[in-house]
Amino acid sequence: MPQCLSDSVPTLAVVKPKVRGFVCVTAHPAGCAAHVREQIDYVKSQPPLAHGPQKVLILGASTGYGLSSRIVAAFGAKAATLGVFYERPCDKGRPASAGWYNSVAVEQAAHAEGLYAKSINGDAFSDDIKLQTIERLKEDLGQVDLVIYSLASPRRTDPRSGEVYKSVLKPVGAPFTAKTVDTDKKEVLEVTLEPATDEDMRQTTKTMGGEDWEMWLDALRHHNLLAPGVVTVAYSYIGPEVTYPIYRNGTIGKAKEDLENTAARLTSRLADLKGRAWVSVNKAVVTQASSAIPVVPLYLSILLKVMTEKKVDEGCIEQIERLFATQLYRADGKAPTADAQGRLRVDDWEMRPDIQDAVKKIWPEVNTANLATLTDFPRYQTEFLKLFGFGLPGVNYEAEVELELPLG
Ligand code: NAI
Repeated sequence: MPQCLSDSVPTLAVVKPKVRGFVCVTAHPAGCAAHVREQIDYVKSQPPLAHGPQKVLILGASTGYGLSSRIVAAFGAKAATLGVFYERPCDKGRPASAGWYNSVAVEQAAHAEGLYAKSINGDAFSDDIKLQTIERLKEDLGQVDLVIYSLASPRRTDPRSGEVYKSVLKPVGAPFTAKTVDTDKKEVLEVTLEPATDEDMRQTTKTMGGEDWEMWLDALRHHNLLAPGVVTVAYSYIGPEVTYPIYRNGTIGKAKEDLENTAARLTSRLADLKGRAWVSVNKAVVTQASSAIPVVPLYLSILLKVMTEKKVDEGCIEQIERLFATQLYRADGKAPTADAQGRLRVDDWEMRPDIQDAVKKIWPEVNTANLATLTDFPRYQTEFLKLFGFGLPGVNYEAEVELELPLG
């Protein structure tokens, strides 16, 4: 029987979901692989990217939008991918985190097609992981032509001062009271969130703003690892008015403003390479990061219903495939079309007036009794469990599975 190398604990087990609030503390290796396979199959069902990237560094490559970016680059453009993330390996018979298993599955699928795919697991905010990444690039790939920045983290240790910044999700200026859903109890209730202090805003911006993105680009540049014409993209969100106080006008929105300002600065610094830094405003989707934001899971439950009924619903993979195919790497070779603030928008379908009007109509009506009918909360829950590899067709959840899977 396979053993965890460290402590001889058996690593074959039946894995069931254990949900604690907005996280699931277990992950299913075969289910995560099936989830990755669904995304690869989707990308392969689309036309290949004619002018796609060739050597891609993805920061935050293991789950959500970063994982989908890696899959679109590898399987839509046959790119070599180096993924950086912070995931938990199998330990003492406890399964690894979903992002670990996702990354094992992506690497295996890429290798099966003869594509380069390697990963670095550790704190991307640290100098140490930046240096490890630079060394790996120098040895294996050389200059990259695309850098995706898709980190979502509740904290960041400043590599210069050692200060630990905490990102908080709070309104700015005044308390905010709104409906939300208790996903454990399946209850709609009201929450009141107290406003952020100036210190909360500073720390959230230090964690989720553009400083680390800029440090990455500076380090890559310093080591001559950015190819002529390099593109770098970070992801942002705007969303509807119902979430403005907690998102766009809240602490996280201030951090996103900083990220957007960083893009402009990076673009001017990349001018001699004819490079470009973009912020892409993406749609709200069910990910580990979004499920932690108050109010957002209820909004997402309504949005899933409305967008599915209008046949325009998208998850991470459809969003990123559309971003690459219709903006970054268009078949006609033309430049992307930005909004007035210079951002790329793939949240355009979410923000369509007919979609938002339908959401606005449902919002005041929704309560605990009608949660499953007025919204698609059941699907929200299904999508949430899929993030951890549960509920995938074709996976035998009663069988023992190997938990100790190595990254390549
Ligand atoms: P996620 O939670 O699914 O992924 C976060 C990634 O960051 C994972 O790969 C994780 O391992 C990595 N990570 C976290 N801390 C790290 C660290 N210290 N070192 C290395 N890697 C680390 O998050 P999601 O939702 O995909 O978010 C990615 C970006 O997309 C964020 O900027 C988010 O604001 C943005 N976005 C998300 C939307 C959503 O609805 N989920 C909507 C629009 C934008």
